[in-house]
Amino acid sequence: MADDKKIIFSGMQPSGLITLGNYLGALNNWTKLQDDYNCLYCIVDMHAITVRQDPAKLRKQSRDLLIQYIACGLDPEKNIIYYQSHVPQHAELGWILNCYTYMGELNRMTQFKEKSSKHADNINAGLFTYPTLMAADILLYQTDLVPVGEDQRQHLELTRDIAGRFNTIYGDTFKIPEGYIGKVGARIMALQEPTKKMSKSDENKNNTIALMDEPAVIMNKIKRAVTDSDNQVRFSEEKPGISNLLNIYCASTGYTLAEAEKEFENVGYGAFKTAVGEAVVANLEPVQAKVRELEKNKDYIDTIIKVNAEKAGRLADRTLRKVHKKIGFSARIK
Ligand code: TYM
Repeated sequence: MADDKKIIFSGMQPSGLITLGNYLGALNNWTKLQDDYNCLYCIVDMHAITVRQDPAKLRKQSRDLLIQYIACGLDPEKNIIYYQSHVPQHAELGWILNCYTYMGELNRMTQFKEKSSKHADNINAGLFTYPTLMAADILLYQTDLVPVGEDQRQHLELTRDIAGRFNTIYGDTFKIPEGYIGKVGARIMALQEPTKKMSKSDENKNNTIALMDEPAVIMNKIKRAVTDSDNQVRFSEEKPGISNLLNIYCASTGYTLAEAEKEFENVGYGAFKTAVGEAVVANLEPVQAKVRELEKNKDYIDTIIKVNAEKAGRLADRTLRKVHKKIGFSARIK
């Protein structure tokens, strides 16, 4: 990795089929940043087990996600793309940071509240300390910038607080990371219930567009998306369905909201939805073709998995050694 570039870290859970929300909120921005930063993009399988996963499915979804990262345009030679569980330093720093994070802070996390009401039969300690493992992911690499969707803002704030607290006690140890949250696309909503976010774990598949959905399925889901009866394509809090589709359109095409509103000024919802569907398909079709091609190349993918985990491990060790020393762990005898 070039020493003069700033560092980016981000990740996704392999907990289901990734959605248009993940793509527009995160992945699409990641590919834009890869030339200007040293980037690590992780498949956070350890986070995924905070809710029950079927083992065979988790293994497949992790590999699918890695392939999808590459198919979306992340170059595995330039970026470190790897599985979190292959770099045990994440778990080690996660434990240490647990000892510098307060119960009250974790209790305030919205994602914890949401997930524990959704999985009331399995409110495990991992779900509670999820944000400290996320802080470890980020702080291990002295990360400057974390490109995420809006829903991760609170976790990022906590990461900054933990890093600041540690630095105050022990002196400069961790870089304090900044978030990078896009202007459009940072919060894509469910198509049938546009007041809640699009989520890969949603059971209603008409709410989500998966990265690998066939073009006809995408068009159909967008045509059936909930709108309103006022028949004007404009962005407004009172029009969550149309605003969501506008957001999807802008994030897919690069147009601003003002430009899109102008384009659809006298256009009916039917034609507007067709345009949104076509913009999404135009983005996802080449990605899908690339996924199919990469899936055939087992050895190439295996090599990426191996080599990148080693690279990440070497970088992680640097920070971890520093942390051990600061907190008073004895050096290993060689
Ligand atoms: P995850 O797997 O839920 O989501 C991955 C990324 O997609 C973004 N995202 C969305 N953006 C816009 N609209 C949506 N509807 C939408 N849904 C999801 C998320 O904000 C995220 O950027 N905790 C993280 C994974 C993680 C991580 C990290 C991220 C673990 N360690 C360190 C950054 C840095 C998560 O659950 O993402």
